[in-house]
Amino acid sequence: MSRRSQMRRFAPLVGVALLLAACGGNQKLPQNYLDPKGPAARTINNLFMPVLGVAGVVFVIVLGLCLFVPLKFRARKDADEDVAPRQIHGNFALEIGWTIVPALILIVIGVFTLKTVFTLSKEPPKTALSVEVIGQQWWWEYRYDLDRDGKFDEIVTANDLVIPAGEKVKLTITSRDVIHSFWVPKLNGKRDAVPGRKHPLWLQADKPGEYVGQCTEFCGLSHAEMRIKAVALSRSAFDDWTKRMQRTAPRYSADDTSLAAQGYQVFTQQLCASCHVINGVNDKQTKKFTADGGIKTPGLQVSGRAPNLTHLMARTTFAGGKFYLRKNTKECNALGLNWAQKPADLQRCIDRTALEAWLRNPPGQKAMAPEPVPGRTGRRGMPNLNLSEQQIDQLVAYLETLK
Ligand code: CUA
Repeated sequence: MSRRSQMRRFAPLVGVALLLAACGGNQKLPQNYLDPKGPAARTINNLFMPVLGVAGVVFVIVLGLCLFVPLKFRARKDADEDVAPRQIHGNFALEIGWTIVPALILIVIGVFTLKTVFTLSKEPPKTALSVEVIGQQWWWEYRYDLDRDGKFDEIVTANDLVIPAGEKVKLTITSRDVIHSFWVPKLNGKRDAVPGRKHPLWLQADKPGEYVGQCTEFCGLSHAEMRIKAVALSRSAFDDWTKRMQRTAPRYSADDTSLAAQGYQVFTQQLCASCHVINGVNDKQTKKFTADGGIKTPGLQVSGRAPNLTHLMARTTFAGGKFYLRKNTKECNALGLNWAQKPADLQRCIDRTALEAWLRNPPGQKAMAPEPVPGRTGRRGMPNLNLSEQQIDQLVAYLETLK
């Protein structure tokens, strides 16, 4: 038997194994859309499961007949090959039946689908938290409108979408470059992030916890590494978080010789500060977007093209969620977003190796296109700034102060 036909023979087995694995009901699957953890996802699930059941019954009946009929009515060995089988034409009752029954099934499913669509598109209450979600190659930016003036400018953060548990949160989804798609399977369905458009979606998590998702529309090199994490906090913890997030970061004077102050000088004098904003440090600089969205003039800001770092240490991941900032251990995860508040916790829980490797050579850590390509526009991602080991140490010391 050739290798190829051997593979063919096993292909169905592999398929069945995969199918069964999908039915495992493993609670640990972080992106299991069959495990809703909020009302929107539950609404979808309440439609999906019965439809899956009906489709399953139809599948069994149709496939069963497809197997049964050819076997039952096949030519017998002792049949006279010169005699044609009895010729029949149609069966009125059957034909009417298998036209009307599927139509009825589709109508019933259609009614429940419409009901689901209307439930999901119901506007959250006016008092709901409103967050703008901006897809970018290859990370997600979240901007909060806390005072409900229509401007998403009170908090600007990335990677971790922090929401209060048990409340509807209104999202406005858009993109700065290409089409992305926002999906946190345990909380709601997908919504495309399209440049120039604002798509509404709402999320609600039953309980505090972390709910992960990812970009689900192919958007270039690092599409697979454009992750999402919704972090639901209790209302009081959420209020604390918003207060913390609105604090600005301190500036350091030139004669300060601490390692963090040296890192601050690196940040403001190297190219870091021309893309990354730190509130209180460079957020008031003139905003300037160059034609290709890249960096043209050092010192000028291309704000919004790179994650705002004011409270980096209040996040759990960096680089579009690809790397852990907070080590993925039980005790560090238990500290939630406050993992870096106390010096001892920070020392224990920061994944410094990952952060240093990132600063050493970002394009080596994640596929990006930060260098200009002749004849093409649209540089994306963080370039290698060829920082020295000393500069990296200084920068990390500074970044650690951004809580
Ligand atoms: Cu963004 Cu795929």
